[in-house]
Amino acid sequence: MAKPSAKARLQGIERYRDQVLSQPLAKGISPDEVRHYLAKLPPGRYPQVAYAKPRSGPLIQPRGGFPLFEAQRRLTQELDAAGADFIPLTIDSYTRHNQYDTAEQLLRRSENEGKNYLNGYPLVSHGYAVTRELYSGLNKPVSLRHGTPDARLLAEVAIASGIVEIEGGGISDCLPYSEGFPLDRSLLYWQYVDRLCAANSTGDAPIHRESFGPLTATLVPPAIVVAIQIIEALLAAEQGVTSFAVSYGQTGSVIQDIATAHVLKTLTREYLGMFGFESMRTYLVYHQWMGRFPPEPAKAGALIAGSSVIASIISADKIVVKTVDEALGIPDPWINADAVDIVRYMCRTFRSSEPLTSPLIEREIALIESETRSILQTIFSMPGEVFWQSVFHAFQLGCLDVPFSPHADNANKLISMRDSNGSIRICDRGNVLICDEDAEEERVLLQSRLACSRDSEQTYERLLSDINMMV
Ligand code: 5AD
Repeated sequence: MAKPSAKARLQGIERYRDQVLSQPLAKGISPDEVRHYLAKLPPGRYPQVAYAKPRSGPLIQPRGGFPLFEAQRRLTQELDAAGADFIPLTIDSYTRHNQYDTAEQLLRRSENEGKNYLNGYPLVSHGYAVTRELYSGLNKPVSLRHGTPDARLLAEVAIASGIVEIEGGGISDCLPYSEGFPLDRSLLYWQYVDRLCAANSTGDAPIHRESFGPLTATLVPPAIVVAIQIIEALLAAEQGVTSFAVSYGQTGSVIQDIATAHVLKTLTREYLGMFGFESMRTYLVYHQWMGRFPPEPAKAGALIAGSSVIASIISADKIVVKTVDEALGIPDPWINADAVDIVRYMCRTFRSSEPLTSPLIEREIALIESETRSILQTIFSMPGEVFWQSVFHAFQLGCLDVPFSPHADNANKLISMRDSNGSIRICDRGNVLICDEDAEEERVLLQSRLACSRDSEQTYERLLSDINMMV
């Protein structure tokens, strides 16, 4: 049995860092120089400072990455001017998959031809010295947005560049994004990233971590999301991280969005406290719809506006913003800046201070909470010398199961579908050990949907319409 514990802290990170930093690609990063540089960063560059300021709604986080330095600098300035509270640095796919040679070649080609041959900023190829200049004069936090199972070098370069919010996690950057990257290796490499963040933190200037709750963004039941968020918070806490955001993606049901936020907030605190990590500061991040987006700009804009209201209702600390070009490709900077402006307007206009409640919401909260507790309890009682090994076993046995994950270590036995409120229901729990009463409750709630669907409708047709619900 392996419960989360500070005893699992990676000892002697310096030795592992020497290995990572001895690669030519690390371009001379020196741990001491980085520490001094971080100590001189303006306080406003730290997420903890941004989160602590009085505010009337969620902080705003766009995404964005271009291959060329100049384009990234312009994007940064436009998003800053539009009122983004966090500045993104979205990394290209080759860098995410450690294909640094290809990223480098395509960066040179982009420079030579003045065209974008990469879908993000190749941070490792640019290196930290240039990237520091990208943010000269900026007094807001920069957030590393990626999806990288082995993010050791990427995180080193990011932190050396003064990027002190690192998104991702051993589960959340592996299962949705790769088919073959071994999950146990991803969990180990993320131990390094978490430890690195902790090692570069000071009391009032912590390197902040954020988990990626949307996962595959396709019919993932809230209890699975909440359990994985809590697991990643615990894994980070084990390594000494003190500032962490849990997150989830808009579910498609307002009831379930409100209930999920409530359970995620309260259970994260409870489980951190249970294992002696109550000093970790936690925040709640809400992702605007992460599923298939409507291609029509008016509908996309309406969806963005609608989910901004939900972010206010659930008192999210931060909202991650989509753009009206989501269905079409990477947005121009002005489209991205427009989205920031609209979300800011909506969150300001529809401020909310009181949590909403209703019998349906209460019922949903009780169900998600009970399911999450069962899932976590199963994992805590699994074999393993340390907690991450129990988590790995849980996936191998299908006790943790993320619908629509392409990953070889994911069971794909849990089947989910929407009920008549649009809430995500578990139709078949597979090997996920939620109790019989909760499974029955899911079945009863799903009946409301089945009762109003056509007899001739096949399961795959229902699933397809569920996946495409916003289109
Ligand atoms: N610029 C802006 N947004 C991006 N996304 C991915 N890459 C970029 C980029 N270079 C956004 C897309 C995608 C989400 C995960 O991140 O909206 O759906």
